[in-house]
Amino acid sequence: MAKFYITTAIPYVNGNPHVGHAMDYLLADVCSRYQKMLGNDVRFQAGTDEHGNKIFQKAKELNVPVQEYVDENARKFQDFIAKLGVEYTDFIRTTDEDHERRVQKVWEKMTDHIYLAKYEGWYCMGCERYITDKEYEENHGVCPDHQKPYEKLSEENHYFRLADFKDKVKKAIESHEVTILPEYREKEILKLLEESPDVSISRPKSQLTWGVPVPGDEDQVMYVWMDALSNYITVLGYPENDISEYWPAPAQFVGKDILRFHTILWPAMLMALDLPLPKVIVSHGMVLSNGQKMSKSIGNVIDPIEVLDKHGTEAFRYYFLRHVDTFADSDFTWDKFEDSYNNELANDLGNLVQRLATMCKKNEFSLSGAKEPEIPEEYKNLMNDFRFKDAFDYTWEKVQAINKEIDDKKPWALAKEGKKDELETVLGELVQNLLATAKLLEPFLPATAGRIQDIFAGEILPPEEPLFPKQ
Ligand code: MSP
Repeated sequence: MAKFYITTAIPYVNGNPHVGHAMDYLLADVCSRYQKMLGNDVRFQAGTDEHGNKIFQKAKELNVPVQEYVDENARKFQDFIAKLGVEYTDFIRTTDEDHERRVQKVWEKMTDHIYLAKYEGWYCMGCERYITDKEYEENHGVCPDHQKPYEKLSEENHYFRLADFKDKVKKAIESHEVTILPEYREKEILKLLEESPDVSISRPKSQLTWGVPVPGDEDQVMYVWMDALSNYITVLGYPENDISEYWPAPAQFVGKDILRFHTILWPAMLMALDLPLPKVIVSHGMVLSNGQKMSKSIGNVIDPIEVLDKHGTEAFRYYFLRHVDTFADSDFTWDKFEDSYNNELANDLGNLVQRLATMCKKNEFSLSGAKEPEIPEEYKNLMNDFRFKDAFDYTWEKVQAINKEIDDKKPWALAKEGKKDELETVLGELVQNLLATAKLLEPFLPATAGRIQDIFAGEILPPEEPLFPKQ
């Protein structure tokens, strides 16, 4: 059994879970369930990014002690992940004692590449990122993502000498020692890498107290990204434990907005630690709402809990894994969501299950000696390439093909004509096909796949309630 380690970006806990946060979890969960299906031993990390000014200031604004504030929000993220039907193995919070101790050791291991210098420049608190003069000019001093003016900083900071690793990172990307998905993002990352200066990795305590103290410097705390990126290995016990069973990770899932941190700073940090690089960084697109970026001021923010409470986990997974592209930006609208629910989940799949189970019961058919379905190569290739939406489309074509087969072979007519043997053969084929399709649905809609398997396993009884009642 091979070990397979999967990671997800750890969200800032300065608010409630957002519909976009679901993407990392869902894609990682599909990957995890598929790897388990292949017989691999999966370790799946999720967590929360709890330090930094953004969170500190939000707690202050609300007049709540910061620790209490992050505790409450971390719980909301855990509840959210559970509601998505996502099964992780490890949950890490950057305020965990183990993490804080380990990340200080990570820092100490990198000291050959760290120096102290003055930083004069710009910062975006929304992105928790230092902004180059060029970017400042291009964006006319205002962050396009957060619509807030950049802050001017003038402070003494510890710097990570990215210059020590730039050539090596470039080679690693070009040679696909680490693969960036989708591949069309590779060029823009290589360009950003070229332009990247050394990275400031600390903030003076006079500016920020809510962070991990820098070892050996009482006046500074760590920069959030240095702290946060380390989570992927501290959660495995690094540097106190040998992590070679799980590291390097075959797959790390992130949004495209934070791909730069994962393909520039992160590989350089790993090189400084003498650790191998992850195999693949999968970056997904953004979920838009009515074609626009979600924002409180536009008032188009979609609350994922509302979607989940109204339509359930499986309908949520269906939309976000099939109608939201794995890599590109995609739109959410309630109309599209409800159409896909009624026309596809309820009609294509729910009705199929009901219809076929009813025919089987009426004709006293049950399947004997069901074969363990084989997983088609085409599906495996798509899944191995992380093209999950395409694999889901492939699976849905099978659902539609079974509907067509029923219409073509008309089992009800065979029953009427008393062609019992032919009827048995047709029903047998249909049920086998449906079970084979349910197997392919497992990573995407695990509960539905399980229900189909239960309904058709022994004596076939149609479900009392339709799988997806029309709404
Ligand atoms: N804390 C950092 C990540 C540190 S990882 C070492 C962060 N947090 S975040 O809360 O802003 O984003 C967490 C994840 O959610 C990221 O992968 C991000 O791309 C994703 N998304 C946030 N909004 C999103 C959409 N609207 N659509 C899709 N994904 C989005 O960045």
